[in-house]
Amino acid sequence: MNILIAYHSDYGNTARMADAIAAGIRAARPEASPLLKQAQDTTPDDLVRADVIFFGTPVHMGSMAWPMKKLIDEAGKLWMEGSLEGKVGGVFVSGGGFGNGGGGVETTMIALHAHFLEQGMIVIGFPKSLPGYADGGLHWGAYGRSGNHEGMPAGISDAALVAARSYGAHVIETAASLL
Ligand SMILES: Cc1cc2nc3c(=O)[nH]c(=O)nc-3n(C[C@H](O)[C@H](O)[C@H](O)COP(=O)(O)O)c2cc1C
Repeated sequence: MNILIAYHSDYGNTARMADAIAAGIRAARPEASPLLKQAQDTTPDDLVRADVIFFGTPVHMGSMAWPMKKLIDEAGKLWMEGSLEGKVGGVFVSGGGFGNGGGGVETTMIALHAHFLEQGMIVIGFPKSLPGYADGGLHWGAYGRSGNHEGMPAGISDAALVAARSYGAHVIETAASLL
């Protein structure tokens, strides 16, 4: 299985989630070697080569960061060929979380899902029974809150990274049973 983790991160929080997801994949499947790539360095050909694709982004003003949207728009041409059909997708998002509502986290995850589904992919959510769900789970994917109660940067908790790790393992186990 070729596994691609494409993400954007300005301040390192989403990157830490990407690393945790990769660690979860390796723990579940020691033979797996997930490829981590910044969204700005990822091409549509990278997506075609992958069997399993993770997209990760910080929330920016209630939506995904623009390098992730740029990749999605560039991948639009693949829709014509149907070359992503049947691949498995997973999503992870980091947000400041000020106000405790997630500030656009769910809408961002759903926007990533919408892209995967439009491409004919199979999207894997985050079941509440997985380790870490209470701290870093949303049923759409893995979530890391990086802000504190005052809205200032505090970094994602280790507990939320446990969730990202278990989500990575879950997606890859599910993909292995599907592909
Ligand atoms: C331009 C900008 C807009 C942001 N908008 C939101 C937002 O709407 N909701 C939210 O929860 N966090 C928002 N944040 C906070 C980031 O999502 C959060 O700090 C995230 O963890 C950063 O991830 P990174 O370290 O991978 O760059 C915003 C940050 C920036 C820079």
